[in-house]
Amino acid sequence: MSLHLGNTAPDFEANTTEGRTSFHDWIGDGWAVLFSHPADFTPVCTTELGETARLKDEFAKRNCKVIAISVDPVEDHKAWCGDIEETQGHAVNFPIIGDEDRRVSQLYDMLHSGEGDSSTVRSVFLIDPNKKIRMTLTYPKSAGRNFDEILRVIDSIQLTDGYKVATPVNWRNGDDVIILPTLSDDEAKRHFPDGWKAVKPYLRVTRQPNR
Ligand code: BEZ
Repeated sequence: MSLHLGNTAPDFEANTTEGRTSFHDWIGDGWAVLFSHPADFTPVCTTELGETARLKDEFAKRNCKVIAISVDPVEDHKAWCGDIEETQGHAVNFPIIGDEDRRVSQLYDMLHSGEGDSSTVRSVFLIDPNKKIRMTLTYPKSAGRNFDEILRVIDSIQLTDGYKVATPVNWRNGDDVIILPTLSDDEAKRHFPDGWKAVKPYLRVTRQPNR
């Protein structure tokens, strides 16, 4: 199944390290990141899950829960969590889905057929409170992800949901933003009474509105 931005994230029930979970119920009325890793007891994945545990408060500040998945069983996830805490200095503080039958991985198209095996690649889905998919990433197994980038995209999407702005290259929370090109100057005056700098008529830069 091919999933696109704006699609409803497929719901499912699965066993996790924190018990049987119904995905949409677990998301509740906040945001969620669902991310897959290729396999337990592998080095890059160990660093990724340790980093995600370290960033728990940052995700919580954004009203966002995190859940991981791989095709390994829950019992293996639990055993591996000890290694993650020991080597990365952070205990895993989010659920990990066991997906031995690949039901959820197939639902979210997380299996990379060209890789010659049936383990999940490094996919990320950001899901909003309406259960819509707002961002997807797919990395090869060899490249660990940058979880600061995932937080940055959450900041951008949460900001641009509330204001008529977009965020420029390498933007970070607090930096100047760009007024939507669909807004006329007259409309922009109403939304941004403090004004903006017009680098070009279509490139109008203003201070981040919620700061
Ligand atoms: C890793 O997490 O280290 C890994 C997993 C599968 C292939 C390559 C690396």
